[in-house]
Amino acid sequence: MQENYTHSGGRGYLAIPGPSVIPDEVLQAMHRPSPNIYAGDLLTLTDSLIPDLKAVARTKHSVAIYIANGHGAWEAALMNTLQPGDRVLVPSSGRFAIGWAEMAEALGIEVEILDFGTEAAWDFERIAEALKADIGHQFKAVLGVHTDTSSSIRNDVAALRHLMDELQHPALLMADCIASLGCDRFEMDLWGVDVMVSACQKGLMTPAGISFVFFNDKAAAARARLPRISQYWDWSPRANPEVFYQYFGGTAPTHHLYGLRAALDLIHAEGMEQVWARHARLAQAIWTACEAWGDIEDPSKGLRFNAPSRALRSHAVTALHLPSPKASDLRAWLESNLGLTLGIGLGLAPSDSPAWHGHFRLGHMGHVNGHMIMGLLGGIETGFKALSIPHGAGALEGAAKVFSAKATDLL
Ligand SMILES: Cc1ncc(COP(=O)(O)O)c(C=O)c1O
Repeated sequence: MQENYTHSGGRGYLAIPGPSVIPDEVLQAMHRPSPNIYAGDLLTLTDSLIPDLKAVARTKHSVAIYIANGHGAWEAALMNTLQPGDRVLVPSSGRFAIGWAEMAEALGIEVEILDFGTEAAWDFERIAEALKADIGHQFKAVLGVHTDTSSSIRNDVAALRHLMDELQHPALLMADCIASLGCDRFEMDLWGVDVMVSACQKGLMTPAGISFVFFNDKAAAARARLPRISQYWDWSPRANPEVFYQYFGGTAPTHHLYGLRAALDLIHAEGMEQVWARHARLAQAIWTACEAWGDIEDPSKGLRFNAPSRALRSHAVTALHLPSPKASDLRAWLESNLGLTLGIGLGLAPSDSPAWHGHFRLGHMGHVNGHMIMGLLGGIETGFKALSIPHGAGALEGAAKVFSAKATDLL
């Protein structure tokens, strides 16, 4: 036996914030020959996805499915509602809000970004000022990222709607739920969201490749006012089940549809409330452990949350700081020694700077349970010890208490 053998054999654990762990049920559903795309099972199956997707988004309105990643859904949402010269407001808590804003700009849309940095949620006073200053209602839409996966800040979408209503601002409210759907509570209709974009590779547990734009009647009316829209991105035929089955703009994404069917079956068998409760508890176990690890004499040498308070944190992803280059060292050590892959830091430091090596992220979205999180935390603690990274005591005990507590004792 070699002296320096590792413990990375066996099933690896990809704990990055998307793509997420794919359930065996989804993999098995996809493992089949190509079906007929013109008749038979696939058409019935596609039909069945629509109500189940809407149930996850908590909407009775429309959904369009695209063969695209989340960037495709971003573009589809913009293309169907806005035209060059329109103005939008983008409150930002991280890299993904900026990315959506940049895409809008590239389409000729005028963008006003309210940048709240990477460690803060939306500041509603500043959003109110911007909306009040918009006397002529030039803003046609407010683009908000629910959970910004780079910073792990989760924003209050319902409060944004409330504010827009209070100020009687008619802009569309458009939400990016790519990281939050199927993880954090999201209620499209109850919260008054006009357009919501998401993708299949995070809370929906399916390999990357299809994405979704949900839209209500107000958004459909905005679409109807546009003089022209690219044929591929037009959401109207896609949201019309009569023509939809054979309208993916071409060949249907056959195997993704089977995979998504299996994923939606898992979600609805568990129940949305239960899915959200599970994610909340997994997140709390992680936070409790990280708080204990960060509790050392000189906190600047140890682990620190990016999102300063629990109220600001997503239940799907946690962004952390560990002085450079320790975060990168920890990720490398865990991957090669324990078969555990953590997410890179994103958008918190330039990727060509030494500071980039001081951040990492934990993905805890989708097909994740208590024993996986205890394994993740045990792995990280092992890495801290192997690399002599300073850390406080009691992390695993704290996490174990979260899992053994009654639901009513939490938060
Ligand atoms: C919040 C958010 N928006 C948008 C995207 C872009 O999605 P995709 O990488 O599928 O294009 C991501 C991807 O991680 C995301 O987390």
